[in-house]
Amino acid sequence: MDIKVKTDGLGIAVENILEMRPEAGRALDRLWSGSEPMTGWVQTPINQNKEELEYILNAADIVKDEAELFVVVGIGGSYLGAKAAIEALPKAERGAQVRFFGTNFCTDYYREVMAEIRDKRTILCVISKSGNTAEVSAAFETLKPLMIEKYGSEEEANKRIIVVTDPARGQLRAEAEEKGYATFDIPPNIGGRYSVLTPVGLLPMAVSGIDIRDVLDGAKAMAMSPVWDEGGTDYAISRHLMQMTGKHIEVIEMCHSRLGYLGEWMKQLYGESEGKNGQGLWPATLTLSTDLHSMGQMIQEGRQNFFETMITVDDPDYTVTVPAGHLAGRTIRELNEAMMDGVIRAHRNAGIPVVEIHMPQLTPHYYGQMLYFLETTCAVTAMLNGVDPFNQPGVEAYKAEMRKILGI
Ligand code: PA5
Repeated sequence: MDIKVKTDGLGIAVENILEMRPEAGRALDRLWSGSEPMTGWVQTPINQNKEELEYILNAADIVKDEAELFVVVGIGGSYLGAKAAIEALPKAERGAQVRFFGTNFCTDYYREVMAEIRDKRTILCVISKSGNTAEVSAAFETLKPLMIEKYGSEEEANKRIIVVTDPARGQLRAEAEEKGYATFDIPPNIGGRYSVLTPVGLLPMAVSGIDIRDVLDGAKAMAMSPVWDEGGTDYAISRHLMQMTGKHIEVIEMCHSRLGYLGEWMKQLYGESEGKNGQGLWPATLTLSTDLHSMGQMIQEGRQNFFETMITVDDPDYTVTVPAGHLAGRTIRELNEAMMDGVIRAHRNAGIPVVEIHMPQLTPHYYGQMLYFLETTCAVTAMLNGVDPFNQPGVEAYKAEMRKILGI
């Protein structure tokens, strides 16, 4: 069984989809050819590097034995994939507590994490492809002296620092070699937001107790899935066509409370891959049913410049039944399904286009499928839009201004 996609609720004429399938097929072929720049992520789960996987699993075991706290310093693609998976997935075994840091310049958050490190046996893991991201540098430089103070010497602190970065380039790689930190490589042909299935995402996931072999196998199954003959490709095409008809926002609705951060990861993936040349769908995320009680009115009767992508988990792990009151005897699953079907009906009645993506269960295997599915559809939509899914030139503008302000 694979994840399923239903695009027939979008109201796009079938012939418009069929007309674009050859072009979408060519985009998929380019991705799968292995010859396009920055598409290393396409092959990673298919040709799994067993040696690297063992190295990650061994490192995770050591962390679990030796540390109470695993502080991951990273931002954007070096943070969101791991954070989303850890929020979403069940843990196969006991893991260490994973804390993400270097994700902002909030002084109060610094104080909180620094206090926690003073109290707990800690291992630091710095993740940065470029090795010079400001948030990450500020965080790492602040935590280093704290680790030296805590463990009594630089030598002891360095044994508790892991670096995940480019195999050859950047300041972080140079420092890791000089100081003897344990290191993992981010392949040069994989960009930040497509790196979740490399050590960037896999190491923190393994430390938290997630079965990363299942995640990778799920991604591999998706690479081979028949979903690319129809539903998957049609979702990518529809996202392109929706923009052409003035639907400029994709409201991504998570119908499971543990998928909120998957939405954050999707926002980066979609936003940085597609927001170019005055194009791209603005990815907005909601969690249902929670946000129906805040944004439901806006969706039903507000400006109709969006379509919805509803992401559901079909089978919860266990059953809870309401014991009393007017919903007595109803299971929570039944209520969730009624809510989702009610939303689809009400919104379609108002002319709102809705896509449905169904995950059979919230397991590492289906989660891996989902990651690969979303990365691939995003890349195809961007290619249909005529933009490069793998660069992010616009992110540099504010950084240049910030450097001017700081005089660095
Ligand atoms: O997708 C991207 O490339 C970016 O969003 C990066 O992940 C983010 O800026 C962090 O970069 P780095 O890993 O170089 O610190």
